[in-house]
Amino acid sequence: MKNSEKIENKLLKNLKLCTLPLPHRRSLPFEFYWQNSIFTQEKKRIFTDQWLGLGRADRLMLPGQYEALELCGQALLLIRDQDKALRLYANTCRHRGAKLLEGNGQCQAISCPFHGWTYSQDGVLIHAKEMDKNPNFDFAEHSLIEYDLKEVEGFLFAFIGSESTSLEKQLGDFAKLHKPWALNDLVTTRRQAFEVQCNWKAFLDVFNEYYHLNNVHPTSIDNLYWKPEESDITSGDYASQFGLTSGTGALLEAQQLSALSKMASLTEPWSLGARYSWIFPNMTFAASQEAIWVYEATPISSERCQIRQSICFPKSTTELPDFNEKSLAYYQRLDDAMSEDIIALENQHKGLRNSPSLQGQFSPLMEENVASFSNWYATKMI
Ligand code: FES
Ligand SMILES: [Fe+2]
Repeated sequence: MKNSEKIENKLLKNLKLCTLPLPHRRSLPFEFYWQNSIFTQEKKRIFTDQWLGLGRADRLMLPGQYEALELCGQALLLIRDQDKALRLYANTCRHRGAKLLEGNGQCQAISCPFHGWTYSQDGVLIHAKEMDKNPNFDFAEHSLIEYDLKEVEGFLFAFIGSESTSLEKQLGDFAKLHKPWALNDLVTTRRQAFEVQCNWKAFLDVFNEYYHLNNVHPTSIDNLYWKPEESDITSGDYASQFGLTSGTGALLEAQQLSALSKMASLTEPWSLGARYSWIFPNMTFAASQEAIWVYEATPISSERCQIRQSICFPKSTTELPDFNEKSLAYYQRLDDAMSEDIIALENQHKGLRNSPSLQGQFSPLMEENVASFSNWYATKMI
């Protein structure tokens, strides 16, 4: 079936305006932030055709440690096996489909709560009561469905579509650009999940632009951020922009005295600012002087998203005697700024929902990562 039969022709025409060179480029038409038919298309073109960010690998270090998570409506299970390899399965029993595990934890084996089928950590069915009485039953045919999973610079990437593409090509020069932050050496010290009443793209947009800072964060963090430099020209499917900060962007203006030591790997100018990067489509992070904080966004519907947030420090920082006390100020900065962003995002959603079909324009410099994403996204959807 042709695209035009799936997305209205008028919208497709408007989407082409998102691929124009700056400064002619337009933002995504408002329908792309709430219409169900668009969401259906995204599932095919964006979420099963790309490697998707799954956050940091170090959060599950011990054999049997797992996290149940959803990605674009698909229930997944991330688990570290006895050989210390991380694996990603459909969180779905091969018997009659029950969800196997919830939340986080550690287990010897994966046992289904419905009828008790049990799988080893490497996904093999090892116990299914009474099934030895079925002469046609073959345990080997009932392993968990496993997806491709890779780790790059401490980040996890999953491919949940049918035929995986090249992650190396998708990431391009990502590792080179972020080398100063020694991302492989970072340790996750807090991870949390929450939901926001907005489209998943709107959440990632706001994290990546400077334009809202003085309206939305006037007394919390706005004064920390200088005007950013131009976005980097990257060779992969990601956008990145660096800007200098007064003090550190990782703490509230009022709590700058709680700063922990800067990452030892950083030299100037990187030690004097923050880099905001967006790995298309669904993962973004800020790399500051002392820490990075990462967001994975996944749609629950076209109008609601789930966000998973992690904050990570160099291992040496986490071993400092005052780390536990001082890290609280970092967590507070994330929570306070996020509360302000959520108010802005949910207000934006109410405004664009069922509105006339409109497309904004981008402020040069202040919204460059958002403009890059809009271009990338439109190219995938047209
Ligand atoms: S659905 Fe899992 S054992 Fe029946
Ligand atoms: Fe913000």
